[in-house]
Amino acid sequence: MQIKFHGHACFSLYLSNGKHLLFDPFLDGNPMAQISSAEINPDVILVTHGHADHLGDTIAIAKRTGALVISNAEIIDYCRLQGLENLHSMNIGGSYNFDFGTIKMVPALHSSSLTIDGQIIYLGNPAGFLCKVDGKTIYHAGDTGLSHEMTLLGNANRIDMALLPVGGNYTMDIQDAMLAARALRARHIIPMHYNTFPAIEQNVNFFANQILNYGIPCSVLAPEETLEI
Ligand code: NI
Ligand code: MN
Repeated sequence: MQIKFHGHACFSLYLSNGKHLLFDPFLDGNPMAQISSAEINPDVILVTHGHADHLGDTIAIAKRTGALVISNAEIIDYCRLQGLENLHSMNIGGSYNFDFGTIKMVPALHSSSLTIDGQIIYLGNPAGFLCKVDGKTIYHAGDTGLSHEMTLLGNANRIDMALLPVGGNYTMDIQDAMLAARALRARHIIPMHYNTFPAIEQNVNFFANQILNYGIPCSVLAPEETLEI
C-alpha cells in the first residue's frame, strides 16, 4: 500500500487491490495543496468532520467521480441534500466491513460545523478512522486534542501508521502528539495539520527528531510525497 500526503489533513491510501481511499479532501483554497480537486479520482472519500478544511471539496469530487463518501450521519445527510447518492453513514464506535477493508469510526475531541450563507450548521460529532486495509492498521486521527481514548486504541490494536495532527491551537500540538504517539503505541507516525495557517505553525522536524527518541519512526511528508507502507 502507498500513502500520499496532499497537505493539511488530506491523504490518499492506494491499496494493492487498486482502490484509492481519500481522507479529508481540502485541496481548493488549501495553501499547502499542490493539486486541485479536479485532479484526483478516489474510489472512496472519508470525512472526519464538517469543518471546511476537512469536508473541503468532498461534494465536488464525489459528484464528478461517483466515489463512495463515508462519514458521520449528519455529514452524510448533508451530502444527500447536496445531491450525492453513493453514501455510507457511521457513528462513533461503529465498524463496517467494506469490500476494500474494515473502517471503524473512533472519537475525536473537537467540533464539527460548517458556515453556509451566513448560517452555522452543526454536522454531528467529529471522529477519526481506524482503517484495517491490506493487512495493516492505519489511524487517521482527524482533528483532535489528546485523549485517553488513544490508550484504549493502542491497547486493542496494532497501529502500523498513525496520522496525527500536531499544529496546536485547534488540535494537539507537538508535545501532546508525542504523548498520543506513545499512548497509541504507534509503529510509525506521519504528522499533519500544521503550517497551513499562521495559527498552526510548528517545528515539525523537531517533532520528528523527538519522536524518534521514543523509538517511533516519523515521516515528515511534503505535499504530493508518497510513502510505501
Ligand atoms: Ni476541525
Ligand atoms: Mn482542521
